[in-house]
Amino acid sequence: MWKILFLIHAGLAGVWAADYELLLEDPDIFARCTEAPPGTIFFRDAINFDKLSVEQEPNTLHVSGNATTTWDLEPTDRIAAKFALFQYQRGNWEPTVFTMATQDFCSIMYDKDQYWYKYWTVHITNRNEVEQHCIKKAGTVLIHEPFVMRLILRNIRGATLQGRYKTVISFEAFDEKNVPRGPGVCFEIRGEAEKLKN
Ligand SMILES: *[C@@H]1O[C@H](CO)[C@@H](O)[C@H](O)[C@H]1NC(C)=O
Repeated sequence: MWKILFLIHAGLAGVWAADYELLLEDPDIFARCTEAPPGTIFFRDAINFDKLSVEQEPNTLHVSGNATTTWDLEPTDRIAAKFALFQYQRGNWEPTVFTMATQDFCSIMYDKDQYWYKYWTVHITNRNEVEQHCIKKAGTVLIHEPFVMRLILRNIRGATLQGRYKTVISFEAFDEKNVPRGPGVCFEIRGEAEKLKN
């Protein structure tokens, strides 16, 4: 479901472009964010994955089943979403240039040109309901057809990825006056970057 998050177009100069794959290091793909602001909600506490099956091989995820939202927002709220890649260096997680953000996740989650769609929401079969409630109404079921996902960072230019990386994926809700609606939701995925042969 999260392959989308690893597809990054880097606008850096350079002739060479390479694809990388993230080999997962945790038994659970969703890890708690270690540097999130206090009170941040863990992703698994905002969306219930008990009925979603994610079978994990080092470089492939087999996903199927249902997820149920428990995040309880107002229909008029806006959800901002962000992806950021960090590299583990000398004992610290250092930011990289690879980030991606959308100010209104719900308006683009079914946009065909968006990675969110290509790699996740296209596999949600009850589109009408999900499009209506997004992930704002507690109890909304996201029904997934079975699909396979690889965590691939595509077309990386001007940088060589080597070693340990983590991606931090966070969501933040805002009310009509743009005031944050309680704490945000976050998870991270940690792994080893491996260059793919073209
Ligand atoms: C997912 O939800 C659909 C519709 O309610 C149901 O038919 C299906 O059995 C559910 N799948 C799982 C794995 O719970």
